[in-house]
Amino acid sequence: MKTILITGGAGFIGSHVVRRFVDRYPQYKIVNLDKLTYAGNLANLKDVVGKANYEFVKGDIVDSDFIFKLFEEKQFDGVIHLAAESHVDRSISNPMEFVYTNVIGTVNLLNAARHIWKDNMEDKRFYHISTDEVYGSLGNEGIFTEKTAYDPHSPYSASKAGSDHFVRAYNDTFGLPVVISNCSNNYGAYQFPEKLIPLFINNIKNKKPLPVYGEGINVRDWLWVEDHASAIDIIFHKGGNGETYNIGGFNEWRNIDLIRLMCRIMDKKLGRQPGESEKLITFVKDRAGHDLRYAIDATKLKNELEWEPSLQFEEGIDKTIDWYLANEEWMENVTSGDYQKYYDEMYGGR
Ligand code: NAD
Ligand code: TYD
Repeated sequence: MKTILITGGAGFIGSHVVRRFVDRYPQYKIVNLDKLTYAGNLANLKDVVGKANYEFVKGDIVDSDFIFKLFEEKQFDGVIHLAAESHVDRSISNPMEFVYTNVIGTVNLLNAARHIWKDNMEDKRFYHISTDEVYGSLGNEGIFTEKTAYDPHSPYSASKAGSDHFVRAYNDTFGLPVVISNCSNNYGAYQFPEKLIPLFINNIKNKKPLPVYGEGINVRDWLWVEDHASAIDIIFHKGGNGETYNIGGFNEWRNIDLIRLMCRIMDKKLGRQPGESEKLITFVKDRAGHDLRYAIDATKLKNELEWEPSLQFEEGIDKTIDWYLANEEWMENVTSGDYQKYYDEMYGGR
């Protein structure tokens, strides 16, 4: 039986990865380590709790003593590292949290893995989950490949870029077996409603203004979260040592077009007049340093490891809207507590 550490497993993407690994690999013991910040929520894993090959550990990756002890006690065979501060807007208001968790937390995990695996690195794997945002911003043309030079613009992407560099440095310097993937924007169930899609679904439902940054012309490449989880599964098992894989949806949308699509779908689902929800669109001050366009070339992953997204976007966004409408209680739970304070600070009480 192998013991696999998944960090950040109570977050959005992490919860889908934990569920997938617990269900598909009964021969693995899955240890989910999460600090349960505002973004971590054990309700994301209600159906997983109690399974024989699953264990939850509450803890902070920034605490190096705790991390060393955990690695000594559990003798992990592999690590899938997702724990991070993940929201660009929060990184603008509080960059240091991003340095602590994303950079120092990652280096703590690398040190512990190196220490515990030092005499036997064979068959071990440290898998670092990163973002396409490390590559910076594209103009109207071009696409990010694994060879694109790093050019991060936000404190979030800078902290993820820093962590990626440390992961590669531990591979080059200490021979730690690592693999990295850089993924585009994810959408799907259990995403915290600070990110565009769940925030806007919730606001449309509640007839609240839809705060579109700038002119809404920024472009993102959207991938269904379960397709990200399937890519992570394939890369963890088949990716090459020291390799990087880009993961993307081959699915670019201008924000304003995506928002109008969500409004149209939700008008139908909520029995509203066509065009009713679009009236909620409110153009607000642009995000500082707002990257214009992200687009990922995932052909390496497709050609070498035979991964492809399983869902067309139109089907995925429809399913996602249905999920949020059906899971009101989940939404109410995560928007109670500090959420309103965050929302008021961010959007001026709109
Ligand atoms: P999320 O914010 O939903 O979840 C992050 C999780 O990490 C939470 O459960 C939180 O409690 C935990 N965490 C935060 N700080 C911690 C700490 N110090 N110690 C232990 N746990 C801590 O994030 P997400 O959207 O699921 O993203 C997961 C990973 O995927 C991140 O590394 C992110 O950079 C990367 N990523 C995200 C996207 C996206 O579209 N969301 C795209 C590409 C890559
Ligand atoms: P987000 O979901 O925060 O992801 P990221 O910034 O990591 O790509 O934002 C997606 C896009 O939507 C991005 O261009 C910013 C924009 N956006 C808004 O226009 N209004 C909002 O309230 C939010 C949260 C995002």
